[in-house]
Amino acid sequence: MADTIRVLIVDDIPETRDHLTKLLGFEADIEVIGAASSGGEALDLATRLQPDVVLMDINMPDMDGISATERLSSQVPTASVVMMSVQGEADYLRRSMLAGAREFLVKPFSSDELTASIRQVYVRDREKASRIVAAAPVAVPAADVDGEVIAVFSPKGGVGRTTMAVNLAVAAAQELGKKVCLVDASFQFGDVGVLLNLNPKNKSIADLVPELELGEAPSLETFVINHSSGIRVLLAPPSPEMAELITVSGIKRVLEGLRAENDMVIVDCSSYFSDVTLAILDMADVILTMLTLEITSIKNMRLFLEVADQLGYEDDKVRLVLNRADSTLGIRVVDVEQSIGRKVDHTIVSDGRSVVYALNRGIPFFVSNREAQVSQDILRLANAVSGVHHPATTATTATAESAAKLAKGKSSIFAWRS
Ligand SMILES: Nc1ncnc2c1ncn2[C@@H]1O[C@H](COP(=O)(O)OP(=O)(O)O)[C@@H](O)[C@H]1O
Ligand SMILES: [Mg+2]
Repeated sequence: MADTIRVLIVDDIPETRDHLTKLLGFEADIEVIGAASSGGEALDLATRLQPDVVLMDINMPDMDGISATERLSSQVPTASVVMMSVQGEADYLRRSMLAGAREFLVKPFSSDELTASIRQVYVRDREKASRIVAAAPVAVPAADVDGEVIAVFSPKGGVGRTTMAVNLAVAAAQELGKKVCLVDASFQFGDVGVLLNLNPKNKSIADLVPELELGEAPSLETFVINHSSGIRVLLAPPSPEMAELITVSGIKRVLEGLRAENDMVIVDCSSYFSDVTLAILDMADVILTMLTLEITSIKNMRLFLEVADQLGYEDDKVRLVLNRADSTLGIRVVDVEQSIGRKVDHTIVSDGRSVVYALNRGIPFFVSNREAQVSQDILRLANAVSGVHHPATTATTATAESAAKLAKGKSSIFAWRS
């Protein structure tokens, strides 16, 4: 077959290598072309066999997976690395991504998660490198009917993500006439319910995801709340320990479902850099990355931009939003730009009065104080991000074969909804 994904497995434990080989043996479009038991052997084999995807264990005796990935990135740049680890810690994740890994699987993972990751990095990297020579360019079906996903992220907490996500959603709904769903993906300590004065029972993403995992077909509508401001809301779990229920495959299915039903899906992300957060950032059409005029915020932003670059995010996918831009703390916007080596794309003024008044009453300031400068800034931002949809994995042209594959992937994602 012309479009088989050629996979190299790297793990020091023989049983794991056998197990993975067997699992992948069931997939018609994936071929295991070799297995290595160490980082050194992986480099040799990869150089010789030129795999499309390398499944790399992180903990190995001689050369660990991160060092092997680093070397592989320069020796065999066409091979995309999917890192496997039992540790789900942010630091491992970040270091893997900086080393050039494209995906991160936390053991134990299901065979669905495994094959989905392999296919995803394969399609994404091929498109990125424009190595697909289209016989006849075909439009990917259904891509343009989907709404856009806007992630509101920052590598540091307390910079105004929730405040902005809520008001941006309201602005897009009320002023731009968009059908908007706001998702609180700050799963441990979500604040969206507080800002919108919502506190329902059994209506959060924690109630939805387990059903998805079981392969059941709940209607998303059952869990989405209609708010009086005209937006729709999917809340975070009511208690922190329930955050664990939310998996990478679960959040992906939720966002796919929501983007099919809405013009805009705005996601208030956690600043904790987990595999779930990463999945959201991957899926997003735009990442509004928020910072404030504080040293820690600026430092973390620099690190995040490095990771974003390693992840292959386009420059215009990541937008820098400076919140409370007029604060007089001695740091100027030009200093920030110089320090992170990038221009700030959007600014929002500081307005403690409007923001706190709104917060205490549970009414977004875009509703209660529509004329304030801070509301105007939010509206400008809403206009700027509206309609920027350029699907990350469904680029403009593809071969008929990979388009068919994508379409097939889509239909299986949506199977539960029919
Ligand atoms: N533009 C702004 N002007 C004044 N205060 C703001 C502004 N944006 C956010 N805040 C305040 O900053 C604090 C953190 O905001 P929040 O949205 O909860 O941040 P995050 O979600 O990033 O943790 C809150 O007390 C909020 O009211
Ligand atoms: Mg928040």
